[in-house]
Amino acid sequence: MENIKEKVIIITGASSGLGESTALHLSKHGAKVVLAARRIEKIQLLSKKIQEHGGQALAVATDVSNKQDMIDMAEATIKKFGRIDVLINNAGIMPLSALPSLQVDEWDKMIDVNVKGVLYGIAAVLPYMKEQKSGLIINTSSVAGHKIFPGSTVYSATKTAVRIISEGLRQEVKDFNIRTSIISPGAVKTELLDHITDEKIQSANKEYVGNVGLKPETFARLVAFIINEPEEVDINEILFRPTAQEL
Ligand SMILES: NC(=O)c1ccc[n+]([C@@H]2O[C@H](COP(=O)([O-])OP(=O)(O)OC[C@H]3O[C@@H](n4cnc5c(N)ncnc54)[C@H](OP(=O)(O)O)[C@@H]3O)[C@@H](O)[C@H]2O)c1
Repeated sequence: MENIKEKVIIITGASSGLGESTALHLSKHGAKVVLAARRIEKIQLLSKKIQEHGGQALAVATDVSNKQDMIDMAEATIKKFGRIDVLINNAGIMPLSALPSLQVDEWDKMIDVNVKGVLYGIAAVLPYMKEQKSGLIINTSSVAGHKIFPGSTVYSATKTAVRIISEGLRQEVKDFNIRTSIISPGAVKTELLDHITDEKIQSANKEYVGNVGLKPETFARLVAFIINEPEEVDINEILFRPTAQEL
């Protein structure tokens, strides 16, 4: 994991779940991590914990669905660490519901966070990566970006969009020596299901993920693998599931 050392890595959604675990894992391998999320007290605590263990971290309160927040967060990164080697567009929400429930506000939020948030992240870091002539953008999709099931329509649409955006980006940033990866996790035990408002869908998912869900460290290890590869290797997509997951 020598290639991770000293890399400046932004992680959105670093206040819990996959993002938090990834920040801890990468900092243990010597990365300088920038923690972006809305819950500032959580990312400040995480930053403190990382620094107490000899690591380097910066917590920046950020709403990924706010264009200016993302630009400010990238600027704060440059000010503190001087460059941006990796952006992990990880922040996401999954308030599952069936279309006939007409949870239109939740559809809007998913599009704002899962799709626009990823695009705003790309827009915030690309100018720096282009100038550096190097960079890596890792976008978090999902098995739901490959599959659809009742209740997942809008979420699956946003996660499919993430895959399309990543592949388009890959083709369009080659000349700048910028790499792009998609990670599509299956069930992982995090806070993701807490925000499902449909009680039936929430309890069914909680039971399932409680039974088969993986630990967030699984995602963190795969992120580390991608970042550690030499610059001429572009790992474009990883899809992983618990062995027991059928969908
Ligand atoms: N867990 C799974 O089974 C699974 C499977 C496939 C894909 N994923 C994807 O993995 C990613 C991480 O999710 P998780 O499982 O780790 O869930 P989680 O524990 O709920 O974490 C979600 C993270 O996203 C952040 N977030 C949400 N809205 C945000 C906003 N507007 N601005 C900034 N940050 C925001 C949250 O931070 P704040 O609330 O502090 O802002 C939190 O840190 C998501 O993209 C999710 O879709 C998860």
